[in-house]
Amino acid sequence: MTTPYYLYDLKLLEKTLQNLIFHAADYRIHYAIKANTDYKINKLITSYGLGADCVSGNEILHALKCGFSSDNIVFAGVGKTDQEISIALENNIGCFNIESFQELKVIHSIAQQMNKHANIAIRVNPNVDVDTHQYIKTGINENKFGVSIEQILELVDYIEDTNCLSLTGLHFHIGSQITNFRNFEFLAKKVNFIIDYLHNEGVEINHLNLGGGLGIDYENPTENPIADFKNYFDVFRNNLSVNSNCKVHFELGRSIVGQCGELHTKVVYIKEGINKRFAIIDAGMTDLLRPALYQAKHKIVKQSKTHPFSKLKYDIVGPICESSDVFRKDYFIEELNRGDLLVIKSCGAYGQVMCSSYNLRSQPKSYYIETENKSSLNEEIKLALPTYLSLKNLVSNNIILQ
Ligand code: LLP
Repeated sequence: MTTPYYLYDLKLLEKTLQNLIFHAADYRIHYAIKANTDYKINKLITSYGLGADCVSGNEILHALKCGFSSDNIVFAGVGKTDQEISIALENNIGCFNIESFQELKVIHSIAQQMNKHANIAIRVNPNVDVDTHQYIKTGINENKFGVSIEQILELVDYIEDTNCLSLTGLHFHIGSQITNFRNFEFLAKKVNFIIDYLHNEGVEINHLNLGGGLGIDYENPTENPIADFKNYFDVFRNNLSVNSNCKVHFELGRSIVGQCGELHTKVVYIKEGINKRFAIIDAGMTDLLRPALYQAKHKIVKQSKTHPFSKLKYDIVGPICESSDVFRKDYFIEELNRGDLLVIKSCGAYGQVMCSSYNLRSQPKSYYIETENKSSLNEEIKLALPTYLSLKNLVSNNIILQ
């Protein structure tokens, strides 16, 4: 296989989905398709009855092609074009997560022209700061996302005065790669406050979408291959005060697909610099942008363990003509030689989808470790799955439990 390439472990993805569904219980889950749009991966996710969270017209069309049901698709994004809005209306998606008053008016006018009806959730910027890289925070006042709490009532009034829009509820998303659960606790408490405030103003909220953001363990992916869904949902169970009619949705991306993907690459050259020893690999920022863009640190392992106890220090860098094309700095790893195969872990989310052709580079291919028969499921999960699937009313149980 020509390197660099992506390798996806569909068995791990299945285990992750089973664990997610088990802990989500009666919460409704949408997969944030932007994290990975690979067809096999998306198909497998649909077979577990999840909905889709899309942020472009093309993502909506892709979600439909992969089998997500249209009424289980939500559409967010601050810059929805007229064409994308028409695609969403044409396909009768479940809900628009609207991000500004002007966008709401445009959706209204296009829906009128097309003689269509649209469900609207108002994306609220709750001004909740989170412990993550500044480029992936989305819920503080200086971010472009959502509308302020003060604006909600004005939007609700507008929606109520129309014939073709209905208020579904509220949407939030405070950021990504969040591992400090106190951040989610603050979100839950802020949401309670907003719901109380709206209740006092005579507006009842029976639908909440709390976004995504649950982080994964980039440092110890082998020890922690599955995100901490249990504690994540427990934070909301323990802190969110909503009535039993209120449907609570989440849109998770990274925590579903992050650990199931790896980027395989070869060492092209070893070079002794003045202060540094460089391992130059054939994958670059065009194949995995996260380290260059967010200074993300992915674990890198050498596939053939030649000298497991003698580690040397390297800067592991790509071939692209940019000094930011660095995967790890001062990284200790077994001695490397030209031709050694390296595995960059935890690349399933925001890896392949962010590839570019800069330097006219070819796109990495995808390979898969296939799924196995579901009969090996643990008993507790077997019991939980049919309930979840029939609740979602999307796929028959025997797809999962053949
Ligand atoms: N909902 C909305 C509205 C979002 O914008 C996102 C992610 C999600 C859900 C899913 O969030 P997750 O569960 O994956 O954290 N490229 C960056 C991450 C950007 C996240 C964008 N929005 C990275 O590589 O870290």
